[in-house]
Amino acid sequence: MQIFLDTANVDEIRESLELGIVSGVTTNPSLVAKENNNDFFSLVKTISELVPGPVSAEVIAIDAVGMIAEAEKLADISENVVIKIPMTAEGLKAVRVLSLQGINTNVTLVFSLNQAILAARAGATYVSPFIGRLDDVGYDGMSLVKDIVSVFKTYELKTQVIAASVRHPMHVINAAKAGSHIATIPYKILMQMIEHPITTIGIDKFLADWEKAKATKE
Ligand code: E4P
Repeated sequence: MQIFLDTANVDEIRESLELGIVSGVTTNPSLVAKENNNDFFSLVKTISELVPGPVSAEVIAIDAVGMIAEAEKLADISENVVIKIPMTAEGLKAVRVLSLQGINTNVTLVFSLNQAILAARAGATYVSPFIGRLDDVGYDGMSLVKDIVSVFKTYELKTQVIAASVRHPMHVINAAKAGSHIATIPYKILMQMIEHPITTIGIDKFLADWEKAKATKE
């Protein structure tokens, strides 16, 4: 499973890239708004130059014509920019046109298997089922990821599944077990994934033993 970083924060992206584990980045209007950056296009440009992989940037328009116009401008920024399109009828129309133009898309706000199948059939490069937001309203977000992965496999659909709206490290483990192609993860959760209390205890013990042995030899 590939790891994408779910952020529009350039420092978080720089820091995570140094770890050598991040294959792409996803943003959304809420994440971009948090950055207090008035120039969305220049932010997308900066991120797309930093990241050697797909960078999802979302359209704001809600009609297909508007979405396509925004998408074309965003796609012009760099080859690795992927256009995030909300899962609506207008969104599907836009995905169809963009996919015929060879522009990669990520259909977002996917909450059902039907929505995922439709997005894939329209030509989406990626679909993003939102696990955490489904869990929040009493559904099992992970079983949706499993169902999408299994149906896409059965029908040999090339669309890749991005497990999104990840809220804790167990979501990542279960997304990997479910066969999700990608999980897009907030920086804080990525940091939590690195740590394990027994690793920390182990390092402390190794260092203490080392110092003890050095002291007896002196
Ligand atoms: C995915 O692409 C979205 O940016 C993101 O995962 C949404 O997560 P949230 O439900 O925590 O806002």
